[in-house]
Amino acid sequence: MQSIEDLTKILSVAPELSVSEPEPGFPVITVATKMSKATIALQGAQVLTWIPDGHEPVLYVSPRAKYEPGTAVRGGIPICWPWFGNHPDDDSKPQHGFARTTMWELIHAESGAATAHLTFKLPLNEETKKLFPHDAEVTAHMTIADKLSVALKTKNTGEELFQITSALHTYLTVGDIDRVQVEGIKECHYLDQLDGEMKFQEKPVKIEEETDRIYRSVASVLMRDLGQKRSVFVDKSGSRSTVLWNPWIEKTKTIKDLPDRAYQEFVCIETANAGTDKPTVRPNKTHTLETVLGLRPLA
Ligand code: BG6
Repeated sequence: MQSIEDLTKILSVAPELSVSEPEPGFPVITVATKMSKATIALQGAQVLTWIPDGHEPVLYVSPRAKYEPGTAVRGGIPICWPWFGNHPDDDSKPQHGFARTTMWELIHAESGAATAHLTFKLPLNEETKKLFPHDAEVTAHMTIADKLSVALKTKNTGEELFQITSALHTYLTVGDIDRVQVEGIKECHYLDQLDGEMKFQEKPVKIEEETDRIYRSVASVLMRDLGQKRSVFVDKSGSRSTVLWNPWIEKTKTIKDLPDRAYQEFVCIETANAGTDKPTVRPNKTHTLETVLGLRPLA
């Protein structure tokens, strides 16, 4: 794992970038430009917070999140890779893959007064080969400005094709879940992960019960948050699936790193490749999954 000294050296290219260790062995990078502020954990290359200048935070992070090496952090934008949800044929493997609980490497950083770029690389080795037996180069590219972009690139550096599922598992903070409208996935088919049935979204999407769905959609989503009087757009590319998740009242009580009221305070809108959307990555080709978030006035 990179030391704080190594990270400080890479980040010394710009005064907008710095690193600290809020918990031992858990480095967090801070970006502070005139457009926005962000924090990104080295573990998982996980954006934890993103706050456009003059606005309230866009991402939800649980007040009970654990910042411990090897434990998934509840909130921000966990990167699920090389599988989304359960492993396709081995339930003993970690949910949502191993990228989110692995320390990535910071390989590039630059910033001007308004825009910062960070690139991280996922170390793949003999240990990770037990979970993902292929040769690949996996990088996460972030652009932090008045919008936030996260692009996950999977390059096949081996000689045989492979398939992956993945997600940019975005926790969006909301003023009041009862006053949230999710636009862009109406009239789409979805897999209801609660009963395994394929369904069709006829009505406008509201979150009124436990919701765990994989929508078949390539469209951008607009999350209208009447409570906070703003909208958040989630644009995407390289994705044919949008995951919508809110654990609602009872399930939330079973999730140790969420307070009971948390279901009122976030919704996950995830740019994903999930379910039957399993991109094939051929030798020497790269699959890119990208999400771009930003604020819009409430129309
Ligand atoms: C969502 C899944 O993406 O992530 C849900 O669709 C899952 O099924 C949720 O419960 C949270 O997963 P985890 O592993 O972070 O608790």
